[in-house]
Amino acid sequence: MTEIVIERLGLHGDGIAAGPVYVPLTLPGERVEGDLNGEHLENARIVEPSADRVKAPCPRFKRCGGCSLQHASDAFVAQWKVGVVETALKAHGLDAPIRSIETSPPASRRRAVFSARRTKSGAQVGFHVRESDQIVEIDGCTLLDPALLDARSIVTELVKVGGSRKGELSVTITLTLNKLDVSVTGGKTLDDKLRMELGPLAERLGLSRLAWEDETVALRHPPAQDFDGITVVPPAGSFLQATRHGEDTLRAAVLEAVGDADHVADFFAGCGTFSLPLARKAEVWALEGVPEMIKALDLGWRNAKGLKKMKAEVRDLFRNPVIASDMQKLDAVVLDPPRAGAQAQVAEIAQTKIPVIAYVSCNPVTFARDAAVLVKAGYRLNWVQVVDQFRWSSHVELAARFDRPEKG
Ligand SMILES: C[S@@+](CC[C@H](N)C(=O)[O-])C[C@H]1O[C@@H](n2cnc3c(N)ncnc32)[C@H](O)[C@@H]1O
Repeated sequence: MTEIVIERLGLHGDGIAAGPVYVPLTLPGERVEGDLNGEHLENARIVEPSADRVKAPCPRFKRCGGCSLQHASDAFVAQWKVGVVETALKAHGLDAPIRSIETSPPASRRRAVFSARRTKSGAQVGFHVRESDQIVEIDGCTLLDPALLDARSIVTELVKVGGSRKGELSVTITLTLNKLDVSVTGGKTLDDKLRMELGPLAERLGLSRLAWEDETVALRHPPAQDFDGITVVPPAGSFLQATRHGEDTLRAAVLEAVGDADHVADFFAGCGTFSLPLARKAEVWALEGVPEMIKALDLGWRNAKGLKKMKAEVRDLFRNPVIASDMQKLDAVVLDPPRAGAQAQVAEIAQTKIPVIAYVSCNPVTFARDAAVLVKAGYRLNWVQVVDQFRWSSHVELAARFDRPEKG
């Protein structure tokens, strides 16, 4: 039996002691004993708990892998997430005013990915057990919007029809303005027989859309989303901010950062979460790598009233960033890249004189790397707003504003 003291949390939310030794579900300052196996302490028992330790709000927390930080108080998690951003910035010699964190409320996730398997007696539906490929069946969830929890019966029906005994079905369910949007991967190959079964099933289950792998097999009602009063129908399985609260908070930060700019480019625009509301005041150039998302954005713009000009372009911004000389007309840019960040596009922006940049990030490490390039080029990091739409997870998101101070 070895006894250790946890020093810090790692980026995945595990407690880390000197060594390093990793112990999940522990907190800094806790004295823990267990069996040391390489870099892991197994059969861990808390000898002295942290004052930040709380009873997990969800009774399934220990087993279900959906959340990783329910054993910590809200105040601790908030401080830790802000600290992750501060540490990432500090690693590049950067510092900025950090606004108080915005955390999405419980039961507000609007998309869930259920795992499901066919069994002899029917189906097993739930989430993965922590660090395992087993499925834990859940009878409740503190994260999901209740309408998503109710959708487990839909997953059961789908796996009975289209699940194979060997594989696992992954079923993504999204709340829309019109019923549920469902995308399935990992099931039986879609042949004519399965197609014939899935169409009527989607009707009976009252789905807005059912997609099987990449094919839409049923579209009964438009699976529309509302982006600040503008309606868009995103393609199946495409990116959507995790909660309405998170989307609203990030959008408010972006609109505030951009201010009165007249010509704005929105890099990594998705289906227009930011581009479309921005177009109420500015001419927008929206750029995104997935053609179907740009199509949805463009249609949303065409159907909306009172928006300014929109140029919606499909472009791979890693391989083919917009070069500095093509950005001369812009007076603000928005960036919201995937976890890898926006290295190539930021290198070009750094060579411009664009007065304002709004940067939304789901990875503080790549954000800080890109921020350092901008600061070296003369930009100033005005503020960072940490946003926690992945409550009880180690995931950290943020919005930030940069400007280019006038010289002299
Ligand atoms: C974090 S999402 C943001 C989307 C949008 N701003 C929103 O809030 O809904 C990142 C987007 O970048 C797109 N993307 C990923 N890699 C890309 C690339 N190399 N070039 C252009 N877009 C890319 C994804 O398809 C996704 O829509």
